[in-house]
Amino acid sequence: MAEEAVLGYLETNDEIIDSGEFAAQRGIDHNEIVNVIKSLHGFRYVDAQDIKRETWVLTDEGNSYTTLGSPEVQLMLAIPPEGISRDELQKKLGPSVFKIACAQAAKNKWVEMGKQLISKKVQHVEDRVKDLLLQIQQGQGIGSDDIKALKARKLIVPQTWKGYSVKKGPNYAPKRKKVLTDLTRENLQSGEYKDSEFKEYNFSAKGQPLEGGSLHPLLKVRSQMKQIFLCMGFEEMPTNNYVESSFWNFDALFQPQQHPARDSHDTFFLETPSTTKELPEDYVQRVKQIHESGGYESRGYGYDWKREEANKNLLRTHTTAVSSRMLYQLAQKPFSPKKYFSIDRVFRNEAVDRTHLAEFHQIEGLVCDRNLSLKDLMKVLRDFFKHLGMTKLKFKPAFNPYTEPSMEIFGYHEGFKKYVEVGNSGMFRPEMLRPMGLPEDVQVIAWGLSLERPTMIMYGIDNIRDLFGHKVDLALIKKNPICRLGIE
Ligand code: PHE
Repeated sequence: MAEEAVLGYLETNDEIIDSGEFAAQRGIDHNEIVNVIKSLHGFRYVDAQDIKRETWVLTDEGNSYTTLGSPEVQLMLAIPPEGISRDELQKKLGPSVFKIACAQAAKNKWVEMGKQLISKKVQHVEDRVKDLLLQIQQGQGIGSDDIKALKARKLIVPQTWKGYSVKKGPNYAPKRKKVLTDLTRENLQSGEYKDSEFKEYNFSAKGQPLEGGSLHPLLKVRSQMKQIFLCMGFEEMPTNNYVESSFWNFDALFQPQQHPARDSHDTFFLETPSTTKELPEDYVQRVKQIHESGGYESRGYGYDWKREEANKNLLRTHTTAVSSRMLYQLAQKPFSPKKYFSIDRVFRNEAVDRTHLAEFHQIEGLVCDRNLSLKDLMKVLRDFFKHLGMTKLKFKPAFNPYTEPSMEIFGYHEGFKKYVEVGNSGMFRPEMLRPMGLPEDVQVIAWGLSLERPTMIMYGIDNIRDLFGHKVDLALIKKNPICRLGIE
């Protein structure tokens, strides 16, 4: 009915000036008219302009007086011609109404407040307060003095009234056409589709939330990282072994056996099986030798290298353990250049805090080829980080037991407006590569970074425990957006 009223009126009139008056004149609830206007506006049947007005509405107390009458009139009606005692009157009216009523009636000079009795001074009174309240309830205006008085008695409060002025819209029609959402077998067969209008696609609609599995942000960033490596022609290394021997994790990397990282305070060692079964014996001998007395123009460390230390099983502390296995395998065949990457989990015996967990993920890339130099490393790092959207890089000399030279990588973060550390890199030492059997002119450039750090930056997470582990909010995993790195 409300819709017919609006569309019908506009057929012969230019404008509904005020939806409030329009509704009142037709005895239609204003809310109903407003809903119809909004819906018609959505389909452009009408154009609507907002109107706002300050109005007054009755408080609960005000509302109650529209039926019971004002307290002062209730009081007048309760006083018999001969007058009544205070106590009795209070009993009739109730204490709260009695109090208000006495004050108002006395102010109006309607009653005589005697010592014994309260009696009427006038016989007939009009309930102006009730009348005013009724007028307001019906949306009629009243004088400003009356408003002030009712407001002071907390019988009315201001409220912003919202309505519309309405004109024909570009799709105006006196009757709303049925819009179909689907072309179906039925409406094709009946021919209904010919005269029907179809609902336009709403490309900004959110869509149904999907029930089912969702990818964790780390997995999203991981697959993007993987994509970058694949674009750059890198092959993925097999990282499916969390358990590694100290040999591949440390010794093969020319990390001395007294190195603090090899302490149980930093590394998780396995109780069962506590040692590895197999290592390539001739290579083990060459590693022992390079540690003890050097070779290939190196002096070595000059200590007594112990096989038992190398045999100890541990949870790998970096994915460079996998790189060392892969490079060793590569050295067993006639040399061909390789570009390798891996993204997988590593473990360190760390105190857990906002930014550290005892397990995290490393991203590692390496290029193995003849005659590589630091320049090539910087070039490949610039390439890689450009794919991540970082074009401004700075390098800082650093130290790793297995690389020389080594560089920390800093990238300019456009959001943070400063350089942040984004990774570690270097050229693997001859002491690592030569015992493997790689030709003398072959170098390996490599770099590593954590997967968590870019993920936290990208998803605005500042506590690692909100990203990984048992405290992670499942809603975060269900709702987080797709990851799009600055891929070129
Ligand atoms: N393995 C190093 C780390 O755990 C990263 C790295 C990889 C450094 C390759 C240099 C070369 O931090």
